[in-house]
Amino acid sequence: MLDELNLIYKQALGSLQETSTREDLESWYRQTLGRKGQVTQMTRQVGQLKPEERPMFGQRVNEIKQELQLAYDAQLDKIRTAEIESKISSDEWDVTLPGRRRWRGRLHPATQTLREIYRIWGDMGFQIYRSRDVETDEYNFELLNIPKDHPARDMWDTFHTTTPGVILRTHTSPGQIHAMREYYPEPIRVILPGMCYRYEQITARSEIQFNQVEGLAVGENISMADLKGTLSDFAKRMFGQERKIRFRANYFPFTEPSAELDVECILCGGEGCQVCKHTGWLEILGCGMVHPTVLRNGGYDPAKYSGFAFGMGPERIAMLKYGIEDIRAFWGNDLRFLEQF
Ligand code: DAH
Repeated sequence: MLDELNLIYKQALGSLQETSTREDLESWYRQTLGRKGQVTQMTRQVGQLKPEERPMFGQRVNEIKQELQLAYDAQLDKIRTAEIESKISSDEWDVTLPGRRRWRGRLHPATQTLREIYRIWGDMGFQIYRSRDVETDEYNFELLNIPKDHPARDMWDTFHTTTPGVILRTHTSPGQIHAMREYYPEPIRVILPGMCYRYEQITARSEIQFNQVEGLAVGENISMADLKGTLSDFAKRMFGQERKIRFRANYFPFTEPSAELDVECILCGGEGCQVCKHTGWLEILGCGMVHPTVLRNGGYDPAKYSGFAFGMGPERIAMLKYGIEDIRAFWGNDLRFLEQF
């Protein structure tokens, strides 16, 4: 019986090689490994053997089954490949047709601008310092030299929580105090990005939430020349080496002196257009030398330390760069807008 089994095996392997279609292959399977197939039949005959012959026979049957199964799988693969090849060569499939493109998401334009800003400041040695969105009145205003009755508070009306004195930050500037209190007495070079909130009428030019990127450098002998040099370098890296820039005096309670940085209009190149309101210049950030009171509130003695700070709005910068006319587009979640970036 063992001989008979080996013969069946040999023949089955031979006839398997001759199959060339799926139908051939399936009928081979039925005749060999199927429920009524030859090999299966053999296993049923074990009972007719002497008890001492049974284990060897059983083992051989199992080996043969496994090998035939493997050979079957390989043959199926071969037939499939041949089918595909014949379809391709008979032109049933046009492999030159373009594929269907898979739909992919992308980074939000605000995120793209933020990352561009991080990269530039990172190259210049500034680390990212993350600070909280929910602040106290003390950090958002008082420690930044904006006392309760200060008229500058009108510029920064905000959202209040049900806990008195706990508000949503109106700017990233309170992060300056957190960073100073954490790093004192080390020198500081950080940028502080994040979402800010203001209680405003939503219009094409103002939103109730937007990003800012704050910057802070504190150390010994930091001067206005460092501020001008560093911010000029940033503006050129961000908007192009050839672009003209200018500083204009301004007022912020937390810096003295304070300034604003303008770049030559990106859209008209200084000729004058609607975006720059025919001035040829675009305002991109506020800056100044950190006010002695703010340094002191951060723990740094203004007699020994000085520093500069700045704050910019990435959405505003993106609007200027891409000529976006309505700030509401950023959080409106309209794919027709978002897909353009
Ligand atoms: N916090 C200011 C604002 O929200 C922006 C700003 C101006 C930040 C000057 C600064 C700065 O650090 O020095 O309008």
